[in-house]
Amino acid sequence: MTGAVQSGTAVPALRKGWQPPPKQKARSERTRVEDPSSPLQRISLELSRQCNLRCTFCYAQATAEPCVGLTDAEVRAVIDEAVALGACLISIVGGGESLLRRSILRSGESCIDYANKRGCYCVVYTNCTLVDREAARWLNDRDVTVVGKMMSLRDSVQDSLVGVTGASVKIRRGVDALIEAGLAATKPPRLALESVICRDNYDEMPEMWRWMRARGIVPEVEIPTMHGRATENRGALFFNEAEAPDKYRQLFEELLAIDRSEFGYDWIPHPPFVACSCQLYYSNCYVTDQGAVQPCASVDRVYGRLRVGANQAGGKPLAEIVTSPDFLKLRRIHAHLKGACKGCDLLHTCYGCRAAAWHKTGDVFAEDPVCWHRRPVQRKARSA
Ligand SMILES: C[S@@+](CC[C@H](N)C(=O)[O-])C[C@H]1O[C@@H](n2cnc3c(N)ncnc32)[C@H](O)[C@@H]1O
Ligand code: SF4
Ligand code: SF4
Repeated sequence: MTGAVQSGTAVPALRKGWQPPPKQKARSERTRVEDPSSPLQRISLELSRQCNLRCTFCYAQATAEPCVGLTDAEVRAVIDEAVALGACLISIVGGGESLLRRSILRSGESCIDYANKRGCYCVVYTNCTLVDREAARWLNDRDVTVVGKMMSLRDSVQDSLVGVTGASVKIRRGVDALIEAGLAATKPPRLALESVICRDNYDEMPEMWRWMRARGIVPEVEIPTMHGRATENRGALFFNEAEAPDKYRQLFEELLAIDRSEFGYDWIPHPPFVACSCQLYYSNCYVTDQGAVQPCASVDRVYGRLRVGANQAGGKPLAEIVTSPDFLKLRRIHAHLKGACKGCDLLHTCYGCRAAAWHKTGDVFAEDPVCWHRRPVQRKARSA
C-alpha cells in the first residue's frame, strides 16, 4: 500500500503515441514548490491503529480496541519537522481508520487544515465506511486526494475480506459520496481505490479494473505484503511460492491488455503495483502511531524513534533519523539492490517491493521474491 506513483512519465519503453495512465493528484496550486535536493519530499503518517474493520490482510493488525496513538499536538509537531526538511505532501495513512480521529474533519482543528496552512498537499487513506456526503464535500473543499478501499464488487466477498458483515454496503455508500462530491471528476483525479490481490478477488480483478477506470477512479491494485494479519491468513490470501510469480504476471498482463484496448493507456507490468511504480524510497519516510520511523508501511525496520508518547526521553529529531547513513542508503537504493533486481533492465521504473524482500529474507535490498522478470523465458516473451 501507500505511495504508488503512476509509472507513466519515466518509462521510455512505452509504445509510441500511447498515453500513460492518469496519476492521482499529488499537489495543488496552494502547495509550496518542491525542492528535489531536500531530505524529504513527503511523509506518511499513522494516527492510531484503531479501526472499525478487521481486514484479513491488514499489515497494521488494526482492531476496534481503543489505542493510544499520536495526539493531535504530536501530529502537528511531526508535520512541522517534516516541513522543515522540505516535505510538501502529507499522506495520512491512518495506521487504523483515519476518519476515526474525531478532529480530522473539524475545520481549524484538523491536521489536514494544519498541513495545508504549512503549504502541504494531503492524501488521506480511508476504508470509506465513515464517509457521508458532508464528509466527502469537506474533503473536496480542501482539495484532498482520497485513497479509499474496494476489495470486491460482491458484498459477500468484500465483507469476508474486510472481516465485518455489512461493511461492503457502507464502503460502496462512501465511494458513491466521494464520486458525487467530484473527487473522481478532476484532472488529474483525486480519488483512488486500493485493492490487494487475494485468492478470493483474483478472478474479479479485470471487472473491478474496468469499473474504476470507467468512473475516472485511479485503481491502486497491488500484491499484498506478508505482514501483520496477512501472515496469519496467508493460506487464504496468497498463492504458493511456486505459482505466485506466474499468477501475478498473468493478471498484470490481462489488466494491461484492457488498458491498451479499452482505455488507450500503456505501462510496463512489474510488481508490486499494477500500472504504478513505488517511488517512496527516493523521497518519503513512514511514521507509525508510536513514533517509529520506517522506510515504508510494511518494512518494519525502525531507523529511529521520534520524541512522542513513551519515547520523550530517548527519541530523536526527524532530521537526525532521515539524514543518518543507514537511512540515506535507502535513498540510493539502486546502488544496493541484490539478486535479480540488481541488474534488472527495468530499473528505470522499478526497484521491486522492498517489503516482499524484507519479509522473505530480512534484507531490505534483496531481490523481490514474487517478480516474474528474472525468469529468462518471460523476459523473452516480453520483448517479443
Ligand atoms: C492500514 S490501511 C489504513 C487506512 C484505512 N483504514 C484503509 O484501509 O484504507 C492503509 C492501506 O494499507 C493497505 N493494506 C493493508 N494491509 C496491506 C497489506 N498486507 N499489503 C498491502 N496493502 C495493505 C490498505 O488496503 C489501505 O489501502
Ligand atoms: S486495512 Fe484499513 S480498514 Fe482494514 S483493518 Fe487495516 S486499518 Fe482497518
Ligand atoms: S527484477 Fe526487481 S527491479 Fe526488475 S522488474 Fe523485478 S522487481 Fe523490478
